[in-house]
Amino acid sequence: MTRLFIALLIVAGAAAASAADAATVLVTGSNRGIGLEFVKQYAAEGWTVIATARDFSDAKELNSLAAANKNITLMKLDIVDEDSVKALAKDLKGKPIDILINNAGVLGDIPSQTFGGYKLSVFQQVMNVNAFGALAVSEALHDNVIASSQKKIIAITSGAGIISGKGAGGPLSFYRQSKVALNMGMRGIAHDLKDKGVIVGIIAPGAVDTAMRREIVGDKAINDQRPEASVSSMRKVIAGLSPASSGQPLNYDGKEMPW
Ligand SMILES: NC(=O)c1ccc[n+]([C@@H]2O[C@H](COP(=O)([O-])OP(=O)(O)OC[C@H]3O[C@@H](n4cnc5c(N)ncnc54)[C@H](OP(=O)(O)O)[C@@H]3O)[C@@H](O)[C@H]2O)c1
Repeated sequence: MTRLFIALLIVAGAAAASAADAATVLVTGSNRGIGLEFVKQYAAEGWTVIATARDFSDAKELNSLAAANKNITLMKLDIVDEDSVKALAKDLKGKPIDILINNAGVLGDIPSQTFGGYKLSVFQQVMNVNAFGALAVSEALHDNVIASSQKKIIAITSGAGIISGKGAGGPLSFYRQSKVALNMGMRGIAHDLKDKGVIVGIIAPGAVDTAMRREIVGDKAINDQRPEASVSSMRKVIAGLSPASSGQPLNYDGKEMPW
C-alpha cells in the first residue's frame, strides 16, 4: 500500500514537472498552410502552443484543434499592424517563448510583380509582410525569447530568395526580393542578439502544397511535399540549431543554402 502511494506520488510529481517544463512555441500565420501544420505537430508533442493569426473566423481546423487541446492558445496578430504587434507583446509580457516561428507570408499579385506590370502598392505589401513583419514580431517578442530555455527565433524563407540560385526575373520578382530582405534582416538579428544566447534559424520549407503554392502552379501543387512532411523536417532542423548555424539560411533537409 505504501509502495503504491509512493509510486502515485512519483507519477503525479513527474506529470506536474512535465507540465511546468513544457516548452512554448509561438507561430505566426497559423490559421492555414504551413503555420497550421506547425501548430498541429508541436501540440501533438505536448508543447504549449501560441497560435496567432489575423482572423480566426474561417480557421475551422485550427479552431477545433484548439477546442480539443488545452495546450493551444489562440491570439490575434496581424504582423504588419503596429498596434496588433504591440498588444500581443503586452499580453505576453514576462512569458518565456522557446521558439518564435515567423511563418506568415504573402505571395502578392503575380502580374503586378512581373516586368512590365510592376505596381508600387504590391511591392510595398509584399515587402511589408514578408520582410518587415518578421523583424517587427521578432523585435517585439525578443525579451520573451531571451527569457526561455531554447532561445530560438525562426524565419520561414524560400529558395526564391537565393540570389545565386537558378531562378531570377520572371513572375515573382517582389516575392523573391522580400525573402532576400528577410534573410538579411534575420542575419542582422542573429548578430544583434548573439550575446543574449539567441539562435536565429532561417529555414526554407521546399515546395509545399498550400494555397500559396497553388497560386503559382495551380493543381500541379499536388506533386509537391505535403505540409506534414515539410514541417516534420523543419522541426528536426529547428531542434538541431546551434549558435554555429545562427543567421545562415538552411533548407528543410538541414543543408546550408547559398546566399
Ligand atoms: N508553400 C510553399 O511552397 C512555400 C515555399 C517557400 C516558402 N514558403 C513560405 O512559407 C510561409 C507559409 O506559407 P504557406 O505556403 O503556408 O502560405 P499560405 O497557405 O498562403 O499561408 C500564409 C499565412 O500567412 C498569413 N498572413 C499573411 N499576411 C499576414 C499578416 N499581415 N499577419 C499575419 N498573418 C498573415 C495568412 O493569413 P490569412 O489567412 O489571414 O491571409 C496565412 O495564415 C510563408 O512565409 C511562405 O513565403 C512557402
